[in-house]
Amino acid sequence: MRSYSLLAPAKINLYLEIVGDRPDGYHELVMILQTISLCDRINLLANCTDAIRIHCDHPQLPPAQHNLAYKAAQLMVKQFPDAFAQYGGVEITIDKQIPVAAGLAGGSTDAAAVLVGMSKMWQLGLTLPELQTLATKLGSDVPFCVTGGTAIATGRGEQLDFLNGLDNLAVVLAKHRHLEISTAWAYQTYRQQFGSESISKAENGQSGTAQIHSEPLVKAITQENGIQIGQLLHNDLQKVVLPALPEVAQLRKAFQREGILGTMMSGSGSTVFALCDSQLQAQQIKQDVKAEMNDPDLYFWIAQFSSAGIQVLA
Ligand code: C5P
Repeated sequence: MRSYSLLAPAKINLYLEIVGDRPDGYHELVMILQTISLCDRINLLANCTDAIRIHCDHPQLPPAQHNLAYKAAQLMVKQFPDAFAQYGGVEITIDKQIPVAAGLAGGSTDAAAVLVGMSKMWQLGLTLPELQTLATKLGSDVPFCVTGGTAIATGRGEQLDFLNGLDNLAVVLAKHRHLEISTAWAYQTYRQQFGSESISKAENGQSGTAQIHSEPLVKAITQENGIQIGQLLHNDLQKVVLPALPEVAQLRKAFQREGILGTMMSGSGSTVFALCDSQLQAQQIKQDVKAEMNDPDLYFWIAQFSSAGIQVLA
């Protein structure tokens, strides 16, 4: 088949702890990642030329060559020159629904969809471990995006241990449209401000210490205990983002309302989410926070926890 349509879901971080510096310049992390039902749609069309082209009318998307979906197609060309010679390049159309530079892995999930879709289109039959090995070359969150669900992510974020899927919880997400946070900025600022703290954590036994910190949340997830999950949400990057960006701090405060299970910034922000028992409650929270903030730059989404990664539609 020459064309494929795929759904590429966003993720939120239920937990993000920085446990040390790494020799490769990255940070050693312990995260708990959760797929949600907010999705981009990716269409791939074999073009029988030697070109890779990106089509997307979203104004905030990086130019083609810097787009992670483009880099994913380039990686496939490099890894599988025979298939490229046989089938040619690809037109990639991105229907962007996930906000950009928002801490929701929007770029990473598009890249994961390109890997999965091109493997099908070129009839390579790549297995999940093979796709994840390729995904690691593109970014720390891309391997998780291939599979989706609920997972503990360690190392740079690419080493995954999957937990039983959660799908009974809902989230309301909000983001200031103009606020884009660079992930690299957030981590660098954390290193400048709290570097010695994370190094001492590492010296105390590195991820072993962090796993003890994240363990109660893992237990709550295993027991599907929404109340405890809400209370145990954690994100170290809030320590640098909230003081630097008062709008995000204000949003986080506005979400702290009676009835919700918990609230947290996702990844490096600037999205903040509130965990809810049901879509109905999420709708109510959205209305209340929207009315309180009364800010036309603030956008809201409602989504459900999901166990599906990249889905091939046709
Ligand atoms: O892996 P990815 O390209 O998504 O990471 C974006 C940036 O986030 C990196 O360039 C790095 O500055 C920072 N980062 C980090 N430690 C990680 C993951 C990301 O410092 N484990």
